[in-house]
Parts: sequence; C-alpha cells; structure tokens
Amino acid sequence: MEKKRLFSGIQPSGKITLGNYLGSISNWIGLQDEFDCLFSVVDLHAITVPQVAKELRENTLLLLAQYLACGIDPQKSTVFIQSHVPAHAELSWVLNTMTYMGELSRMTQYKDKSKKSSDNLNAGLFTYPVLMAADILLYNTDLVPIGADQKQHLELARDLAIRFNGRYSDTFTVPEGYFPPIAARVMSLQEPTKKMSKSDSNENGFISLLDTEDVIVKKIKRAVTDSEGVVRYSTEQPGIKNLLEIYSKMTSESIEDIVARYEGRGYGDFKADTAEVVAQGLRPIREKAEELLKDKAYLDEVYRDGAQRANSMAGKMLRKVFKKVGFIPRSI
Ligand code: TYM
Repeated sequence: MEKKRLFSGIQPSGKITLGNYLGSISNWIGLQDEFDCLFSVVDLHAITVPQVAKELRENTLLLLAQYLACGIDPQKSTVFIQSHVPAHAELSWVLNTMTYMGELSRMTQYKDKSKKSSDNLNAGLFTYPVLMAADILLYNTDLVPIGADQKQHLELARDLAIRFNGRYSDTFTVPEGYFPPIAARVMSLQEPTKKMSKSDSNENGFISLLDTEDVIVKKIKRAVTDSEGVVRYSTEQPGIKNLLEIYSKMTSESIEDIVARYEGRGYGDFKADTAEVVAQGLRPIREKAEELLKDKAYLDEVYRDGAQRANSMAGKMLRKVFKKVGFIPRSI
C-alpha cells in the first residue's frame, strides 16, 4: 500500500527556538517511516518580514542543518528549500484568486504581526496563509504536523482544497493537522501567557537551539513563575505549566509523574532539573548542526536532491491545476 503523504516547514527567519523544536520538528522524526515526508525550509515565507540577504542565506543553511541534526533523514524524506520549487509561488497565485479578503483579515497571526510592524504592512504578509496552503496542497498532503499557532492557516488550506475541488472537480487532497498533545504551544519564559517566539526582543523569553548549556540554565532559572510555590499543572500557574510541558516533552515522562516527584519541594529544584533536561537534550542537536554546517558540500547535495524530487512531484500537480483553470499547456 502506498504511504500517506506528510508535509511541514519552518521559516528561516531567525534562529529557531525550543518552541519550534517541541511543537514541530521533534514530532516529524518518528513519522518518517510511516509517511512519505516532505520537509521544507520555507524561505519565500521568511521575506514577508524584512530580512538581510546574507543572514537569510545563513539562516536557511543553518535550518537545513538543524533539520538533519534533529534526525530528519534525507534518504527517507524529501528535504528542500522552498524557493527552489517555483510551483509553490505559481500555485499560490492561482489560490490567491480564490481566497476572500475577509478570510485573510480574520487570521490572528496576521493581526498580531501587523500590529508589531505597522510600518511594513506588505501584501505578502497578508496573503502568506495562501502560500502555506499552496505548500501543502501541491503534494497531495494527508498530514501536516504543526504547532497550535498554525491551526487557522491549516483550516484555510482545507477550505481552499474543498473550494477548488468543488469548482473544478476533484484535484486536491484535503489535509489533516497533527497537533502534539503536549507542547503544541510552548510559552515565553518571561511572559508565560504569550507564545515563545524567535522574534521576541527579550532573549530571555526563548531558548534557541543554538544556546549553550550555560545560557539554557540561566534562562530557565530566570523563567517567570508565581508565588504559589507548588509544582502543579494548572492554567492559574502558566509559568510552571509551561515548564512542566517542556520537561515532559523532552523526557517523554508523563506530567503526572513529574508533578508527583516534586511534591513538597520548591521551584528551585524543579527549575534546575528542567534546565538540565533541556540542556542535555539539545546539546547533541547543537553539536551535530555545527558539524554539518562545516560540510557545505553535503548540505548542497541534500537540498539539490530534495529540490529535484519536490519539483517532479509539484510539477505534476501544477500542470493538472493549470489545465483545469484553463491555461494553455506550456512546453517548459
Ligand atoms: P514558523 O516558522 O513560525 O514555526 C514553525 C513551526 O513551529 C511551530 N511553533 C511552535 N510550536 C509550539 N510552541 C511554540 N511557541 C511555537 N512557535 C512555533 C509552528 O506551529 C510551526 O509548526 N507558516 C508556518 C511555516 C509553514 C508551514 C507550511 C508549516 C509554511 N508552509 C506548510 C506547515 C506546512 C510558520 O510560519 O511556522
């Protein structure tokens, strides 16, 4: 039986965080045998906010190296850079013409981002969920593993698939989301009611996958908690709840067991142990990524091979879509 298809991606718009790792990449690794996977470094998405060209190039290669360091196997999965597959932008255009302004204005991420950068409200930022839909729909994707903040975007991809299929006949698979039961929304260490984000101006709010052990320990020790003094999994203690989710996801230990172990003990021990668990868990990934980054020829080979495979799959779908829409078939 043919394997089902899985697609996911991350923007190379900065250094990725523990949130990206726990909410997204860490869940990809184990799905590689069961699914036919595509993992993209989505650089077209990254330029919806201003980027310095040299840094974008560096961050793109770094993210690719981090995918591999986390355990993405390019022999099993197709790993590629989004801009190397022009069909993403092309399908996105077609889907743009089928997306309503109202649908995009309701996107909470757009509302948040536009508040933060009101001096740079470009059209790309507004239509970005359509590009994400194109990423997913191009490959007949069945499953999309993402963090909770991407749920609304996935809904749009589903709506667009249904809309296109209804208008032109069955073409796209309607994708399902995969949201991890724990750590689907890792919170800022400094403001635990807000999502941990790589664009946070307060570096203590997030842990980068590049942070050294000392830095990780410092950041977790400084994490904002509360004055209850009891390690408990409760929405009234968002800081502790967040650390519990991080601890549980890093070790695969249940939250219940962790809570039981810290009964009658203060936050000091719990924070120190959480820091240790995170620092030890991320160390091999950081070291491996650093090593891979030195081998540019290998990274080159991975993304070239990935682009070839992805282009072949995406090209087929794009030809089908163009034909249904009424374009005259092109010879290139
Ligand atoms: P991006 O680059 O912002 O984040 C990448 C992935 O990390 C997840 N994530 C989190 N999960 C838990 N806690 C957090 N604090 C946290 N922060 C980020 C995100 O949910 C995401 O899964 N539009 C997407 C990238 C994208 C994509 C796609 C994803 C483009 N095309 C197609 C899947 C399929 C984005 O900006 O993610």
